[in-house]
Amino acid sequence: ASERERNLRSPICCIMGHVDTGKTKLLDFIRGTNVQECEAGGITQQIGATYFPIENIQQRTKELKADAKLNVPGLLVIDTPGHESFSNLRSRGSGLCDIAILVVDIMHGLERQTIESLDLLKMRNTEFVVALNKVDRLYGWKTFRNTPIVKAMKQQSKDVQNEFNIRLTQIITEFKNQGLNTELYYKNKDMGETFNIVPTSAISGEGIPDLLLLLVQWTQKTMFEKLTSSNEIQCTVLEVKVAEGHGTTIDVVLVNGILHEGDQIVVCGMQGAIVTTIRALLTPHPMKELRVKGTYLHHKEIKAAQGIKITAQGLEHAIAGTSLYVVGPNDELEDMKESVMED
Ligand code: GTP
Ligand code: MG
Ligand code: NA
Repeated sequence: ASERERNLRSPICCIMGHVDTGKTKLLDFIRGTNVQECEAGGITQQIGATYFPIENIQQRTKELKADAKLNVPGLLVIDTPGHESFSNLRSRGSGLCDIAILVVDIMHGLERQTIESLDLLKMRNTEFVVALNKVDRLYGWKTFRNTPIVKAMKQQSKDVQNEFNIRLTQIITEFKNQGLNTELYYKNKDMGETFNIVPTSAISGEGIPDLLLLLVQWTQKTMFEKLTSSNEIQCTVLEVKVAEGHGTTIDVVLVNGILHEGDQIVVCGMQGAIVTTIRALLTPHPMKELRVKGTYLHHKEIKAAQGIKITAQGLEHAIAGTSLYVVGPNDELEDMKESVMED
């Protein structure tokens, strides 16, 4: 790999869509976790973050393309709530990402928050892939765990294939009514103009290898410049939380740059700018959700993109949704305190 390829940061992928389309369940399947079953009412109420190391993605996609050259170090996936009351979190999540997965329930088609999510993506010109989820609910679907979708589809009965095609055609029309061209990714000859659809099941995993490979290949191919690490820190506070043994901590998404233990940081607070020093940089284990309590890994420094829990003094009044700045040797602290409060 070239020097620049080695310096690529992990792309950030935001998963969006109407409530109960299976966003969290898809992540659970990939992680091998059951976060969704532990959510109150089965409803996501916070932004989540999970880091997938590239080795894991390579492993899961080898049936599709054993020789695919994957250059990014991993993929950071941001989970968002689909419930209508959390549009601020959907907006925040979509603002952080390089690419999005828009999840559509194949039995329901485009719904209210699908359209709302689409509008956010259009507004920011964000690339996205449609996960046409719950294919296992097609009547008579035969399960082929973790299998690439073309292979799984070929082995379905004619009735299943017919129902799939009818629903797919209907959903492509619904997208068209929103001004967007979409097509099954393996039939898409016009990538870039026509958005890709990947049929998936979050219960049995058909199509998951396709989804992962598409995300990684698409981002590393078309976003090379954006993913070539500059040192500029870009970091957003997701949550302000008390964590046992750590006092008040902040969960952040580091979008770009490197954070170090001992860095002096400035964050927006309810009573003015907070200036403090990073005491510890913690992450969940790879493939674990940041918003779920668990054991943490300690780091001396962390490179983007990552979901991180930061412990430091004085974070009690920090405000979620705002930017975190690191004070550099040439920075004027007073200027930074002003700009952090402008968020
Ligand atoms: P919110 O975060 O609350 O917006 O919902 P979500 O999009 O994260 O959906 P969630 O993962 O909570 O799944 C909602 C329900 O659909 C759960 O009961 C899941 O078990 C079910 N479900 C999700 N994906 C699939 C799928 O691929 N097949 C089937 N049969 N059920 C699914
Ligand atoms: Mg969810
Ligand atoms: Na849900």
